Amino acid sequence: MKGAYLMNILVIGSGGREHALVSKLKESIQVKKIYCVPGNPGIAKIAECNAVDINDNNALLDFALTHNIDLTVVGPEVPLANGIVNVFSEKGLKIFGPTQSAARIEGSKAFAKDLMAKYNIPTAGFAVFTDAETAKQYIAQQGAPVVVKADGLAAGKGVVVAMTVAEALAAVDMMMCDNVFGSAGSQVVIEEFLVGEEASILAFTDGKTIMPMVAAQDHKRVYDNDQGPNTGGMGAYAPAPIITPAVSAQVMREILQPTVDAMVSEGCPYCGCLYLGLIMTTDGPKVIEFNARFGDPETQVVLPLLDSDLVTIMEACINGTLAETQIKWKDAAAVCIVMASGGYPGTYNTGDVISGIEDAEKQGAYVFHAGTVAAHGQFVTKGGRVLGVTATDMGIKQAVDKAYQAVGKIKFNGMHYRKDIAHRAIRKDLA
Ligand code: AMP
Ligand code: GLY
Repeated sequence: MKGAYLMNILVIGSGGREHALVSKLKESIQVKKIYCVPGNPGIAKIAECNAVDINDNNALLDFALTHNIDLTVVGPEVPLANGIVNVFSEKGLKIFGPTQSAARIEGSKAFAKDLMAKYNIPTAGFAVFTDAETAKQYIAQQGAPVVVKADGLAAGKGVVVAMTVAEALAAVDMMMCDNVFGSAGSQVVIEEFLVGEEASILAFTDGKTIMPMVAAQDHKRVYDNDQGPNTGGMGAYAPAPIITPAVSAQVMREILQPTVDAMVSEGCPYCGCLYLGLIMTTDGPKVIEFNARFGDPETQVVLPLLDSDLVTIMEACINGTLAETQIKWKDAAAVCIVMASGGYPGTYNTGDVISGIEDAEKQGAYVFHAGTVAAHGQFVTKGGRVLGVTATDMGIKQAVDKAYQAVGKIKFNGMHYRKDIAHRAIRKDLA
């Protein structure tokens, strides 16, 4: 650490992921003050939140300059795709995240798939289409199940796993003819359907060296036993036992290192957090998607397990010195239960008063806010996913019990949450 130099940090975003980022950054002895834009009422308890439009690069730059920000951390994908890292870097401001061209690894599925094909990175077979009729002919030839993906950013809704040809054709119509996702759907990727257990690996990278964090598993379906529609994520846990040391080494060798090397070869080195969504097929791990950011809710279980200074790691990524940086993880497990509003992921209620957050925190849980608003001294629901309740403990089973005990303290009208988070890991534990 450099003498008494303390830093002002800015975190961009407003969800559970950003709450978890702010909590971990707050532990750093290098931090003077943390700002978050726009933040949320949970973050406001530990950082200064300000209403800035995060899709306006000039407004963000202005904020960073007037508040003497030493390090900016970008949560969501849209500012990255808007080139916020380029804008800050040109002004000599330190910012953690990939440049606009590197963020294409998430912002264009066609870019990511072409990259993987060119550099032999294992992923589902695919074809890219800009014309609906040709896409439909291809689907008819391939048959079902088949996966249809909008090329661009679609707020996590651009993937249709079609079990029948009719569903796949309807997905093409929705994306390419009805333009439900705007220009994000003018190009589609049609992908081979893969079978296997999924895992998420977030990794720090400075563009050359890549260091994976503990592996996590998300729960995308709304109901227990993975039933019902897909959501933004109903809970997560880490470490994911499916990612054994041998699998982890294979993922480094076949996916993560080749991907950062490929980005250098393509002239767009990738710096920041690279999110790998993978599926364990009988042919080994294959990439489902890359994201250019921390995952949500995965970050809510991964960062509480980090035993090193996050500011030091982020600076090493920016300075290109990650190879010389030690990253330590706690020998523990973390479980996050997402508490959602009645109706979510469909239309949901808002404005319900939430009680019991402090009681849950007294149980030793982190209560990360995702969709809340403060009104008359109370927390009130505002989003589909309202809270992420995370507990850490020695093992998964203990962390699960602790997280559900904390969840039991929290109440709001219509709330629902999955009762089986981490079930796969617990079954493996007992096996
Ligand atoms: P994404 O929005 O890219 O995270 O995809 C949502 C979900 O769709 C993933 O978590 C997988 O469960 C599923 N999925 C995406 N691509 C495939 C594929 N090629 N085969 C099977 N399932 C897939
Ligand atoms: N948990 C999935 C994502 O962050 O995209």
